[in-house]
Amino acid sequence: MDMGLQGKKALVLASSQGLGKAVAAQLAAEGADVMLASRNEEKLMAVKEELLAAGGGGRVEFCVTDVTRKEDIEALIRKTGELFGQIDILVNNSGGPPSGTFESLTDEDWEHAFELNVLSYVRVIRGVLPYMKESGGHIVNIASTSVKQPIPGLILSNTFRTGVFGMAKTLSQELAPYGILINTVSPGRIGTDRIRDLDAARAEQNGISIEEVGEQFRKEIPLGRYGQPEEFAKAVVFLLSGANTYITGASLVVDGGMVRAL
Ligand SMILES: NC(=O)c1ccc[n+]([C@@H]2O[C@H](COP(=O)([O-])OP(=O)(O)OC[C@H]3O[C@@H](n4cnc5c(N)ncnc54)[C@H](OP(=O)(O)O)[C@@H]3O)[C@@H](O)[C@H]2O)c1
Repeated sequence: MDMGLQGKKALVLASSQGLGKAVAAQLAAEGADVMLASRNEEKLMAVKEELLAAGGGGRVEFCVTDVTRKEDIEALIRKTGELFGQIDILVNNSGGPPSGTFESLTDEDWEHAFELNVLSYVRVIRGVLPYMKESGGHIVNIASTSVKQPIPGLILSNTFRTGVFGMAKTLSQELAPYGILINTVSPGRIGTDRIRDLDAARAEQNGISIEEVGEQFRKEIPLGRYGQPEEFAKAVVFLLSGANTYITGASLVVDGGMVRAL
């Protein structure tokens, strides 16, 4: 299948590791020019070198960005526009909100999670629209299986990820006249640092080992294992590619069958 990604200009947030990095790597391998963005400059430099060495043929650039800072997002959009001249593809992503129950979280926790997991997506989409309204585009917002089924102990994710999906569904209507397709892709138990941290926290809470936590989760996953970031990235890259001409406003979970909801 021709993915039609050669020469496309892609902006991938939170791409110094984990899911964002895996998506950026596959876009670069398909010949897209990729702008990486997250907070840690050293990690971004290393990812840039890795992607260039893999040899997709496109450009790889980076911009140190804290997505909770409005001025960082403005600078990122400016730099991407200056270097690439266009933005065809956006992957909205960020760090995950902290775990916690309703009674354990403060106003500051709620405000920070809103800035990290909702407002950052709003601001980046606003920033790319002038480019995409000219010639169309593809957007994927990375969310969580909490859009389908609340996750115990993750009330901030359960609240804000559904909001991001609601926004994307609304935008799929508002942006369709410009040829902009926007979808929500939700990972479930993809083996990254984030999942290792959450498993470690659960192990400590329950007084069991991290291996036992993994075993408990694997029993709940029909495919019987955690996913790999590359498996998640393939689904995202399809939705971002020229092969996707008619899917917009959709919510796709990539979770080995873990979510039981229809
Ligand atoms: N893995 C899963 O199965 C899973 C499941 C459900 C939801 N998710 C969600 O998917 C997203 C990505 O997850 P992941 O597993 O790839 O996590 P990860 O391995 O922890 O990576 C998080 C990425 O976010 C960046 N980041 C964190 N805070 C940032 C900020 N304020 N500004 C800019 N970049 C920031 C980090 O880079 P720097 O530290 O360099 O900034 C890093 O590149 C998270 O929101 C996570 O909650 C993942």
